[in-house]
Amino acid sequence: MNNSRRKTTITHDDTTIAATSTSSSSSSCSSSLRMSSTSATTKDLISPDDIYDNAGYEDDIAKMFDDNVFKTYGRYPLSFVSGSGTTLTSTTGRTYLDFVSGISTCILGHGDVGLAKAVSTQISQLHHVSNLYLIPQQGKLASWLVANSVADKVFFCNSGAEANEAAIKLARRHASDNDITHPVIICAEQGFHGRTLAALSATGQPKYHRGFGYGGEMVRGFEHVPYNDMDALKNMVEEINVTPKDIKDEGGKRGVAAIFLEPLQGEGGVIPGSAAYFKLARELCDSNNAFLMCDEVQVGMGRSGSLWGHEKLDVKPDVFTSAKALGGGVPIGACMARGEAANVLGPGEHGSTYGGNPLACAAGLEVASRLSAPGFLEGVSRLGERLKSGLESIANDYPGVIGEVRGWGLLLGAEVKDGCGTIAGDLVGDAMEAGLLLVTAGANTVRFVPPLIVKEEELDEALAIFRDVVATRAKSLQ
Ligand SMILES: Cc1ncc(COP(=O)(O)O)c(C=O)c1O
Repeated sequence: MNNSRRKTTITHDDTTIAATSTSSSSSSCSSSLRMSSTSATTKDLISPDDIYDNAGYEDDIAKMFDDNVFKTYGRYPLSFVSGSGTTLTSTTGRTYLDFVSGISTCILGHGDVGLAKAVSTQISQLHHVSNLYLIPQQGKLASWLVANSVADKVFFCNSGAEANEAAIKLARRHASDNDITHPVIICAEQGFHGRTLAALSATGQPKYHRGFGYGGEMVRGFEHVPYNDMDALKNMVEEINVTPKDIKDEGGKRGVAAIFLEPLQGEGGVIPGSAAYFKLARELCDSNNAFLMCDEVQVGMGRSGSLWGHEKLDVKPDVFTSAKALGGGVPIGACMARGEAANVLGPGEHGSTYGGNPLACAAGLEVASRLSAPGFLEGVSRLGERLKSGLESIANDYPGVIGEVRGWGLLLGAEVKDGCGTIAGDLVGDAMEAGLLLVTAGANTVRFVPPLIVKEEELDEALAIFRDVVATRAKSLQ
């Protein structure tokens, strides 16, 4: 029995209504309401516990999703109740090795004591105010980001897409300040930048655009070129620099606002950028008064073995974005900028209610201090080498199934050979059956993204499972 007695005072059309109600989970989900006036209606809410019990969802989580949740994801029929380090425990009590980490997010793994303490301490003290005020935790996290990167200033938000929206606005604003009425941001084919409309328009994968256009068009001002193709990039810049007649006739000017790239394409198939390509992108931005912007949402925050993916390419972006690992699984995003880019947006020109609140920043600060431990990033590189050479050995032994092994640090992909009779999703499914969680990247790559605190023996265990999975498939394909 869950009895509760609530009293609510509501002001409606000059009539003050005192509504008193009693609800009981054993009777019905809806409850009665007595009012002193008939001019307004209100009723008590159904408590989550009542719904959960009464609809029988406790035994059927899939049905609860089916009945109530947008079908925006293809989900595995699997739920977890707890986690510890690299291990997740399902509702059925089975344990899994987690080489997904919430897709490159939980870098400290699960059930991390330091993260739990930082967040619980902060939430009991002060979790949210507003950016109307100075938030010390936000200032401190921004200082850490600035101290450990080329950035001079940081804007905080909640997700990767939102961080990228900030970058896009910043680039457009800078172009506008330089009399470009039609700013173009050059992005890469197979890139991924998020699901909000502008970030999605920057995303160079038409399958994600389908049905979201206006007259078939997404947000304008984005052009896509093949990743790592230097000639295509040069040609695109030249093309954009010629303002079409209709724009010119209206007194407008087209120009390159930014080149916006992932240092390593994650969703696109774990494809590292080439240093020569990024050097060219830097030069083109310099000669066109445009910004080089890097999306570090997946590869950043230590996953590559460097704090930022662009460091691997020895290039300095004007703007770069982060999210995912920044809070270790607590939602937070950041758009960082250096030099001129750091001062483009002024008061009132961008914002986010939750952005950089004390709770999210407390999580970010814990992640930051753990990444700053001497030798931590070196450890990521070392573990990454171990995983990579294990995957290469599997590729070597089963060349009919596994092709190239790519990636940096603990963001690795094993390419599944085209036309071999199996696809990346099959191997991910087989691995899950065997107790190892993996995720696909693009159409034909299996992605390995364990927490950065993964142990050597866990890498070896994962490799052994994956080897078995590949061997079984190879045998069945003979
Ligand atoms: C490179 C990159 N950018 C942006 C995003 C979008 O991040 P979010 O889902 O937090 O909006 C993702 C998500 O996978 C990503 O991998």
